Amino acid sequence: MLAEYYQDETKHTHAKLLKNAGGLDWDAKPPCFKEYPAVTAISLPEPDLSPCKIDQTADSSAVCPGFKTSTVLNPDELSAILFVAYGITSRLSLPQREYLLRAAPSAGALYPTNVYIYAHRVADLKVGLYYYDPRDHTLRQVSSDSAEISHLPETVAAGGFIEQAPLTIILTTSFYRCAWKYKERAYRYCCLDIGHVAENARLAASAFDFGSTCIARFEDGFVNRLLDLEEGEEGTMLFMPIGQIDEAASRRNEVHFQPAPTELDGKSSPLILLMHGHAYLSRADNKSFIEQQRKEIEAKVHKDGLENTVILPNSLPNDKEGLLAAVKRRRSTRNWDTASLSLAALAKRLHHARSHKGMEGCDAIDLYVIAHDVEGLPPGVYVYDDQSNLLQLTKAGEIRAATYAACLFQDVVGNAAAIAVIVVDPSRIPEADGERAYRYSAMEAGAIGERIYLSCEADDLGACGVAAFFDDEMLDILDLRDSGHFVSYLVAMGRKAKS
Ligand SMILES: Cc1cc2nc3c(=O)[nH]c(=O)nc-3n(C[C@H](O)[C@H](O)[C@H](O)COP(=O)(O)O)c2cc1C
Repeated sequence: MLAEYYQDETKHTHAKLLKNAGGLDWDAKPPCFKEYPAVTAISLPEPDLSPCKIDQTADSSAVCPGFKTSTVLNPDELSAILFVAYGITSRLSLPQREYLLRAAPSAGALYPTNVYIYAHRVADLKVGLYYYDPRDHTLRQVSSDSAEISHLPETVAAGGFIEQAPLTIILTTSFYRCAWKYKERAYRYCCLDIGHVAENARLAASAFDFGSTCIARFEDGFVNRLLDLEEGEEGTMLFMPIGQIDEAASRRNEVHFQPAPTELDGKSSPLILLMHGHAYLSRADNKSFIEQQRKEIEAKVHKDGLENTVILPNSLPNDKEGLLAAVKRRRSTRNWDTASLSLAALAKRLHHARSHKGMEGCDAIDLYVIAHDVEGLPPGVYVYDDQSNLLQLTKAGEIRAATYAACLFQDVVGNAAAIAVIVVDPSRIPEADGERAYRYSAMEAGAIGERIYLSCEADDLGACGVAAFFDDEMLDILDLRDSGHFVSYLVAMGRKAKS
């Protein structure tokens, strides 16, 4: 599979890092925003989160029957949803550089994700496609071509949701922003980034009692053209219709697709273009195409006796603050307190991490925990079984030094109390999804990461996403080398150092 080739080619090794060591060309750093100089900016109201349910938990159903077609979103709701998804929540000024930090974290603060909306029934906004500019919290219309837009639902799986919902968030990625620093490995980070933003958008929607769903199957070529994306430099990744759930609705307009590998040209790294372009879809002529190939995937549950099993506490303490409020305060923590993490606190993070499975491909994900310093949990590697709420020990012993080394000697990992490790088992990915499943699993890994970040922040604990690691060394730590699995993403957790 191309995905395996891509993973293998983009793994960090000591030799590669030494060879590529060198400074970055800061003058060539691509901007983090899109520009539409000829288009008038439409201001959104100041984001006001006070009407939201701030005690919102991460739980919500992954199954969306449909949306009420009568709902009209008001500009305040739109403003809050976009702000929580990807708004600017802080500024960091360094000599010669300023970072506009967002509600969602991003590898190297490069922010390859772009947020567009399809405003279908939003008060005071003409039906059309708009780019959200977080710098001034404005929208810029990118297309109002109603004839073209009317074809959108036909080109997106479960496109009926887009017809029904008052709002659809569309997440795209600009590969070059991330590839500038991370080269071919950047595609991994672009997908993780999307998952983080999507999870924030889902949370914001649910705080207004709206439902949402993630759709990652669509006709890439058509959608990219509609949004006027630069093929080969940018790609559409995810649709998220948002609205009031209609329990009585049944899925309509189910669209079926077939692979449509596309050769992409562009400045971004060739391997990214190969990986992304090879996973394009077009509408299938034969409706049974996907059904034929759909397979039941047996979830692999790790239970081999209770001897090495830790049953996690069920009663989870309340968040000090709701998850939504945590979005505004969330930052990556790199300085840890030396006090241990309680088992209950870890259990809660794991519960939140797996409480919602939003993206296709998420059944192929296992969540491991490397425990360095958790009260009541001997150091070692564990796999989390969310169905039975238990941790299964897979390797006993102190592995702080090995994990620190495997993560490019980053203190954020070496000093953390515990590390959540998101692992993908490609053999559990439905074959019908082909190469595209790579995107799905990485986006879900990002969404899990965001849930852990917010869950930690809500209880004043720290978290930091980590995507820089020596891939084979991480697999060795988990005893998964040569198993076909790959490590997608890590999140370090612990108590924040008192400042
Ligand atoms: C996919 C991803 C990978 C990341 N990898 C690392 C990492 O390896 N080491 C690290 O210290 N921070 C890492 N981060 C954290 C980012 O550096 C951080 O999000 C960014 O600087 C913005 O700061 P903020 O999270 O405080 O808003 C990662 C974040 C994401 C989303």
